[in-house]
Formats: sequence, C-alpha cells, structure tokens
Amino acid sequence: MARPSVTLKLATSMDGRIALANGVSQWITGAASRARVHQMRQAADAILVGVGTVLADDPLLTARTLPMSDVQPVRIVADSRARTPVTGRLVQSVGLGRVVVATAQPAGSAVAALETAGVELWRCGGPSGQVSPDRLLDHCAAVGLQSVFLEGGGHLAASFLRAGLVDQIAWFRAPLLIGGDGLPAVAALGIEEMPHAVRWKPVATERIGDDLLETYISSDAV
Ligand SMILES: NC(=O)c1ccc[n+]([C@@H]2O[C@H](COP(=O)([O-])OP(=O)(O)OC[C@H]3O[C@@H](n4cnc5c(N)ncnc54)[C@H](OP(=O)(O)O)[C@@H]3O)[C@@H](O)[C@H]2O)c1
Repeated sequence: MARPSVTLKLATSMDGRIALANGVSQWITGAASRARVHQMRQAADAILVGVGTVLADDPLLTARTLPMSDVQPVRIVADSRARTPVTGRLVQSVGLGRVVVATAQPAGSAVAALETAGVELWRCGGPSGQVSPDRLLDHCAAVGLQSVFLEGGGHLAASFLRAGLVDQIAWFRAPLLIGGDGLPAVAALGIEEMPHAVRWKPVATERIGDDLLETYISSDAV
C-alpha cells in the first residue's frame, strides 16, 4: 500500500512568514492565488492542517471552486488532544464532506463530542505523544486517499518535513514583508550542519496576479 503523495502549500510574505505575531494570516496572498489554492484543494483527495490553524483561523477547508464540486476532499486535522472545537466552522460543516480528526487521544468527552457531531476519529498517536505523520499517512492509504494537500501551519509542516514525507512544495509568495516577529512558514527543523539541509529542485515558477507560485519537488523524486 503506497503512502499518499504530500504537497505542502505555503502562502507567505517575501520573508517567508505565514502570519503576523498575533496569528492573523488573512490575507497575505491575493485573490487569484487563493482561487488557485481552491483548485489545488479540489484536485487532492485530502486537505490536512494542524489544530493550531483550526484554533487560529476557524477555517472551513472546503474547495470553493466555481462551480463548487459536490465531492469535497476529506478534511483532516492533526489534533493530538482532540481540541478541535465542535462549534467551529469545520465541524459544523460536516454535511459538506468528511471531516477527520487524527488524534493521539484514546477516548474522553472531547472525542465523544466530536464523534457525536459526525467527525471521524483516527487514532494516530506516535512515540512523541503527538500525531505521528507516518501513521496518519498510513491511515490515509488504508482508506484509499492517495494525495494529501498539507496547508500548515508551521509546526505541522516542520514535522512532515523532518520525517521526509513531503514530495512537493507549492510556495505562494506575496510582495509584502512581515518581519521577524511574524510566524515562520516552517517551524524548527533542528538542522545543525548545512549539508543536512535538504535541497529542493525548483520545477516551475508562475506569476499569479502580483504573487509568485514556485513549485519544488523533493530531491528524492529527481
Ligand atoms: N499563510 C498560510 O499559508 C497559513 C496556513 C496555515 C496556517 N497559517 C497560520 O499559522 C498559524 C498556526 O500555525 P501553528 O504552527 O501554530 O499551528 P499548526 O502547525 O497548524 O498546528 C500545530 C499543532 O498541531 C498539533 N499537532 C499534532 N500532531 C503534530 C505533529 N506531528 N507535529 C506538529 N504539530 C502537531 C499540535 O497540537 P497538539 O499537540 O495539541 O496536537 C500543534 O500544536 C496560524 O496563525 C495560521 O493563521 C498560515
């Protein structure tokens, strides 16, 4: 059973920030880039974010293309402690398409409330006590999801990168500077020697409105 392909989407300022220090990220990129992201979501089997993004943005995570497809990608939250709010837009929109909370939490009232609300719970805990990216992708493969569109935030992106599980990066870069107090697109990777930093192969550059979309593939795929 092949693991799904993973595309990491980054929507950043020129200096690689995904949000202001206070967590506000709407909107860094322009309308045309955001429309492209909706097309990319629609083309994927699943959309994945960390619970930090759910708590900060209260996202729907649907693919809002024109026209909007009846078949939506599965929306997955990596949420070790089942903190996804039942009252949030994601859970409240479960009628639009499957919502999965991948968790390390075996049971409890938060898990039960999510299940009652129609959310699927996947047990994907790893040795760190957080959701294991490997186990999460194994779960995706087991239910036939072959492509995952990973939308961040920075901590979940870093975990997937550290585990070597990102195949492609779609980096939307908007012409503004947020500064070092903004949130980095990728949290700590723990790299101590330059040769250990993975080099990505640039395969495409496209201007979208005033933004740039750069596509990179993993050097493993070359
Ligand atoms: N511009 C963009 O493209 C973009 C996209 C997304 C988000 N954002 C912004 O990014 C910010 C949120 O980013 P963030 O880094 O704080 O949150 P995040 O990466 O969305 O979520 C991090 C949380 O995910 C959970 N998690 C579960 N398994 C994990 C694992 N293996 N590795 C890492 N985390 C795991 C952890 O909470 P538990 O331990 O409780 O599970 C962790 O605190 C928000 O301000 C949002 O607006 C911007």
